Amino acid sequence: MDLKKLKITAQKDIKSAQNLAELNNVFKKYLGKKGELTRILRSLKDLPIKKRKTQGKLANQIKKDLELIIQERKDKLQDAKYKIQNTDFDITAPGKSPVLGHLHPLTLVRRKVAEIFQSMGFTIVQGPEVETEWYNFDALNIPKEHPARDLWDTFWLKPKNKKLLLRTHTSPVQIRYMEKNQPPLRIIVPGRIFRHEATDASHEINFYQVEGLMIDKKGKITVANFKAIIDEFFKGFFEKQTKIRLRPSYFPFVEPGFEIDISCVNCLGKGCSVCAQTGWVEILGAGMVHPNVLKAVGLNPKFWQGFAFGVGMDRLAMLKYKINDIRLFYSNDLRFLQQF
Ligand code: PHE
Repeated sequence: MDLKKLKITAQKDIKSAQNLAELNNVFKKYLGKKGELTRILRSLKDLPIKKRKTQGKLANQIKKDLELIIQERKDKLQDAKYKIQNTDFDITAPGKSPVLGHLHPLTLVRRKVAEIFQSMGFTIVQGPEVETEWYNFDALNIPKEHPARDLWDTFWLKPKNKKLLLRTHTSPVQIRYMEKNQPPLRIIVPGRIFRHEATDASHEINFYQVEGLMIDKKGKITVANFKAIIDEFFKGFFEKQTKIRLRPSYFPFVEPGFEIDISCVNCLGKGCSVCAQTGWVEILGAGMVHPNVLKAVGLNPKFWQGFAFGVGMDRLAMLKYKINDIRLFYSNDLRFLQQF
C-alpha cells in the first residue's frame, strides 16, 4: 500500500471521529496490533535493504505524525465532553441543594397516635372509605328514618343495586373488625372520613378520625379503664400534664355515651380564645359499646362489654400545633406545610 495515501485516509478518519470511542477505533485500524501501518512496519524486514531504508524512514515518520494528530484529536474531544457549551459555567460555585420533602402535619399526628396506642397493646386496623349503609348506619344502631342519621349528613354514591356512601366516621370499622375477630380485642382505626357540609375554619367535607375499640369479658373493661387509657393517650400526645373530664352525651352506638374535654393545651386551663375562656376543649366522643352493636356482629352482650371512642385527627393537630383553620391541611400551601 502506498504510504502517502494511507496517511491521507488516516488523517481524514481521525478528523471525522466524533467521540473517544470512534477515535479509538481509528487508532486500532491504523496503529493497533493488526493495524494497517503496523502491518507495513512489520513487513519492512522482507524488503531489499535499500528500499527498506527509505520505506522504513517514511513509515516511522507517518506513525509519529499519526500518533500526534490522534493525541490532538483526543484532547479536543475530551475538552468538548466536559465543557458546557456557550456558558460561563463556574464549576467552583456552590451547588443548589435540592428541596427536601417532609411529612404532612396530619401524617405526623397519625404516626404519633399510632405509636402511643401500640405501646398500650392496640392493633392498627383499616377499613374502606366507601361504605354500605349497613356498616355506616344500621349495624351501628342507626336504623333508617331514625333522626340520629341527621347527625351525619353525607355523600351518597349511586351504583346499580346497593346504596353506597362515603363513610361519615370510622365507626363502621368496629363492625367489620368484630365480624371477623373474636374478643378480647383492642384496636385503633385511623382513617379518612367525609361529611356533606359547608366548609369554614372548623369544618371540612373531608377529614381524619381515629376510632378506638376495646372489648373483653363482661365486667373487665369499664369506663374507668377507658378514662385511664385516654388520659394516658393525651398526656403522651400533647406531652403536657393535661386533665380530662367526661360529660354525658348521645351517640346511638354507645350506652352510656359521653364527650371528653381536655384542659386547654394552649392556656393550660386558665382560659383563652382557643377554649372560649372556659379552660376546656371538647375533643372526643366515646361510650360503652351499645348492646345492639354487639348483637349486630353476633356477640352476646351478656358476656361481652367494652368501650369505643372517636377523635378527630385534624382537631388533635390543630391543638398540638396551634393551627386555627382546618382548611390549611388540604390547601397545599407550601408556606403552611414547610413549617412542619
Ligand atoms: N363516630 C362518632 C362521630 O363521628 C364518634 C364516636 C365513636 C362516638 C365511637 C362514640 C364512640 O362523631
